Amino acid sequence: MAAKKGHELRPNPRTGRYRLISGNWKMNLNHLEAIQLVQKLYFELRDVDYGFAEISLHPPATDLRSIQLLIESDRMRFSLGAQNCYYEASGAYTGEVSASMLAKLNVRYVIVGHSERRRIFGETDEVVAKKLAAVFSEQMTPILCVGETLEQREEGRTDDVLMGQVRAAVSELPGDLVSTLVIAYEPIWAIGTGRVATPDDAASGAQLIREELTTLYGEGVANAVRVQYGGSVTPITAAELLEAEGVDGLLVGGASLDADAFARIIRA
Ligand code: PGA
Repeated sequence: MAAKKGHELRPNPRTGRYRLISGNWKMNLNHLEAIQLVQKLYFELRDVDYGFAEISLHPPATDLRSIQLLIESDRMRFSLGAQNCYYEASGAYTGEVSASMLAKLNVRYVIVGHSERRRIFGETDEVVAKKLAAVFSEQMTPILCVGETLEQREEGRTDDVLMGQVRAAVSELPGDLVSTLVIAYEPIWAIGTGRVATPDDAASGAQLIREELTTLYGEGVANAVRVQYGGSVTPITAAELLEAEGVDGLLVGGASLDADAFARIIRA
């Protein structure tokens, strides 16, 4: 397939890291609507669009099997992602889904510790750390979400909050695993609010995360970890956020539910 050769996924020449653009659909779209969205996105993208960043899609759990079959049967270049999982392997945990169940669906990325899960469902740093370990134990890659509230930011506590969340989540894990991690810096005040952080905010979040990783594991690990920015990303803001120092991709909520908007973000 010589025609596709030029469109292999390329790492960012500046950093050597592979970019990752993820669509977090949250609790939206049943499996039929999900299939339509993925098909539409697939038709919007051209070969060349896959060269810049890996694309992961994170539908609700009930849609995963349908989207897995669609991606695999049509050989779409999308990685399957989940939004959450429980940390125990199996047992009496009504309503929960385990990491091994996700792995069986060829899920590649699992979002862990999203601020909505921390806030609405009471996930603590300890729970987040256990989930991270569970995802790794099934050879999947966690996308660990960290971010400060507006109040914490205004009190000047952004550094402490971000570094503390990173430390609490990873510190029990060996460096070779941590180096494969994706961390999404999602300032809570920018999620679903239309209030997007500036590229400088995104860069400074990425820098704080890597500073903490350097303290814990050294520069090699810190420079291997990929850092996404998330929070009200749109086709208009995507390009400058992707250019921000230390930012390796985007975690997109609302705009990923619109095939045209998400395709424009990918092309940014
Ligand atoms: P948003 O969500 O793009 O709708 O702000 C981002 C996220 O919560 O991951």
